[in-house]
Amino acid sequence: MMPDLKAPISNPQPPHVEELLKEASTSGGMISFAGALPSSRLFPSEELEEVFTRTMAEHSGEALQYNWCEGYAPLREQIAELMRNRGVDAQCDQILVTHGAQQALSLISTLAVHPGDTVVAESPTYAAAIPALRLQSPRLECVERDANGLDFENLRDMLRTQNPKLLYVIPTGHNPIGGSLDTRQRERLIELTADSHCVLVEDDAYGDLQYVRNERPLKSRPNTDHILYVGSFSKTLSPGLRVGWVAGPATVIAELSKIKQAADLQTGSLNQLTLSSYLKSHPLQEHIQRCVAVYRQRRESMLHALRKHFPGAAKWSAPDAGFSVWIELPEQISAEALLPLAMQRGVAFDPGRPNFPCVEKTNYLRLSYSNQEAQKIETGIEILGKLIAELM
Ligand SMILES: Cc1ncc(COP(=O)(O)O)c(C=O)c1O
Repeated sequence: MMPDLKAPISNPQPPHVEELLKEASTSGGMISFAGALPSSRLFPSEELEEVFTRTMAEHSGEALQYNWCEGYAPLREQIAELMRNRGVDAQCDQILVTHGAQQALSLISTLAVHPGDTVVAESPTYAAAIPALRLQSPRLECVERDANGLDFENLRDMLRTQNPKLLYVIPTGHNPIGGSLDTRQRERLIELTADSHCVLVEDDAYGDLQYVRNERPLKSRPNTDHILYVGSFSKTLSPGLRVGWVAGPATVIAELSKIKQAADLQTGSLNQLTLSSYLKSHPLQEHIQRCVAVYRQRRESMLHALRKHFPGAAKWSAPDAGFSVWIELPEQISAEALLPLAMQRGVAFDPGRPNFPCVEKTNYLRLSYSNQEAQKIETGIEILGKLIAELM
């Protein structure tokens, strides 16, 4: 018989919503705004196929072998260079290659937090960060984030009275809101946390996909030794590669590496060598510019369609980066109740409840424009707008 297992730590979609979202992802005719998926048309498939074949032809011994837990050394160096291009003074030993940004969050939470410690997250936040932050059974507290930024008064009080061990923030291209902190807010965040005993986790998964501004990472500024920067190739190259990284002080990277060893020994050698070879032979920035051009246009299409078709009582603000628009519906409309009705008419989206770590809010939804063509965006938003108007 199976022994008692731990209670679930996540704040998942209710099972019936999860089933619907699975159905939406496999149903051919559905216009799905769910999942915040990168556009599969933008994957550099031919280039990756070519470097994959070359890697196997020329380096199969190394590509199919175990490698160092910290990551394939040439790739660590390439990531360090990428960080330097983003204004962060990083060397190879300050980089840990991880199995996506998601693993980076789990490793940091495991290292920095003890059971009962306080961890602070933004509300709302990236839904899958919440179970990672909860791994060590901390007290999870929330600070409000909206299109205008963070509630700094509340954050300052929390830092003073609750002595949190970890603060998780998405300064640029916040998921799900899509907004970015401005220069003054970035300075304030560093000022408030630099002298605390709190690790600031900067999740920069969408830092390369900015459409309006050009914000550099928090970690590019002075007094940021307490910041662990989390990056990812998922949004720009391919999430299937499962390669992300942490940039931080070499001593912390060494400790995180021990935890990674316990988790999975290393990130797959074949993917790391292939990625390294891709970065050597293809200018990443040119590929990113192509992605930005496509996503900027899709974002415009969605904002235009929302203005045209959504009832006035629904609220949103224009994202400046990332993949999605975050919608607030009137309180009496539950996004979870809306989803099956919308799917009957051929449209899917993510109900926003799992994005709130500390409260139950059911009248929010996330609409991702990233993986839909302009025409489908217009049609899908028109259908959804009519449905919401009918329910009101
Ligand atoms: C803000 C944010 N951080 C991290 C991740 C995880 O990315 P990865 O695929 O690199 O694990 C995501 C994925 O959606 C994300 O939106």
